[in-house]
Amino acid sequence: MHAIVIKEPGGPDVLSWDRVPDPRPAPGEVRIDVAASAVNRADVSQRQGNYPPPKGASEYPGLECAGRIAELGPGTEDSGWSVGDEVCALLTGGGYAEQVAVPVGQLLPVPDGMAMADAAALPEVACTVWSNVFMTAGLRSGETLLVHGGGSGIGTFAIQLAHANGARVLTTAGGPEKLRRCAELGADAGIDYRTEDFAARAKELTGGKGVDVVLDIMGGSYLEGNVRSLATGGRLVVIGLMGGRSAALDLGRMLVKRLSVHATTLRSRPVEEKAAIVAGVREHVWPLIARGTVRPIVDRTVPLADASEAHRVMESSAHIGKIVLTR
Ligand SMILES: NC(=O)c1ccc[n+]([C@@H]2O[C@H](COP(=O)([O-])OP(=O)(O)OC[C@H]3O[C@@H](n4cnc5c(N)ncnc54)[C@H](OP(=O)(O)O)[C@@H]3O)[C@@H](O)[C@H]2O)c1
Repeated sequence: MHAIVIKEPGGPDVLSWDRVPDPRPAPGEVRIDVAASAVNRADVSQRQGNYPPPKGASEYPGLECAGRIAELGPGTEDSGWSVGDEVCALLTGGGYAEQVAVPVGQLLPVPDGMAMADAAALPEVACTVWSNVFMTAGLRSGETLLVHGGGSGIGTFAIQLAHANGARVLTTAGGPEKLRRCAELGADAGIDYRTEDFAARAKELTGGKGVDVVLDIMGGSYLEGNVRSLATGGRLVVIGLMGGRSAALDLGRMLVKRLSVHATTLRSRPVEEKAAIVAGVREHVWPLIARGTVRPIVDRTVPLADASEAHRVMESSAHIGKIVLTR
């Protein structure tokens, strides 16, 4: 098969569409004939040499895909999946390829009538947002969520899912156009982080109370502001470190307000935990997608062999939603 190979750590041009050995499904896995994959920020870090794949994972980038099951691996005959089924999948790597092997617990059915390019944009955002905002932070109807980077792949999905579950959603983004799109997706208020102090605005927008949950992609540079934004009993979930990995934490403010800080990554979780998250997504998120309440937001599609171009777009942050790679 062909796959995108990272020739050496570096810029987008180190991505090369090369002939490589076909993947073989291990026990408990199936092999998928990939129709589409999608780009995640983590792929950019992997390309730069800053986010190596976990032990045992494919060396090729790509954390999600959509396609058809081409082969059932040992022990998956009674899994309920068959050769030819249209699926999308949460991957630990290897999605930028013509074929990929994946544990059955990480498969989801392609929603009825949905194009492969749209289905490929779902697994990573659905699993990340469901596991962090709902399973970890326990966001409830009537509570307020602050989503950073509302125009990102993650942000566009978090806004929709929180709104659909009855939460009030505040979001940050860089500029009025992205904030307008966030409002269309269900954000109740937008904060332009380039011109406004997001923590002060979050306080104002909640009548001084603060927000119940923050979904953060910045890490170090936003830690102080995030803690300042939270209401009593608030929960901060850090899923990205685009603003650095360390900063001072005011424990005094935390204990007075009874706050909690969580930090998680999906890719390194054991197979059983990923399967539990995928099962939760199928039960709680897939029905909202079937009804059209929550939908994949695809900024553009790019040919898989031209993944370098897709990475250039992602690094420019010109996109809103997901960048999808198609064969
Ligand atoms: N832990 C996990 O399991 C997990 C899983 C998936 C994703 N993630 C993380 O989630 C983040 C988003 O991933 P993605 O794939 O959705 O990336 P993406 O689409 O490239 O989004 C990144 C966004 O960050 C925004 N941004 C940049 N600086 C900002 C700032 N100071 N304040 C607020 N927003 C800012 C950018 O747009 P503007 O600046 O134009 O607004 C852009 O929309 C990444 O950090 C990624 O590593 C983590």
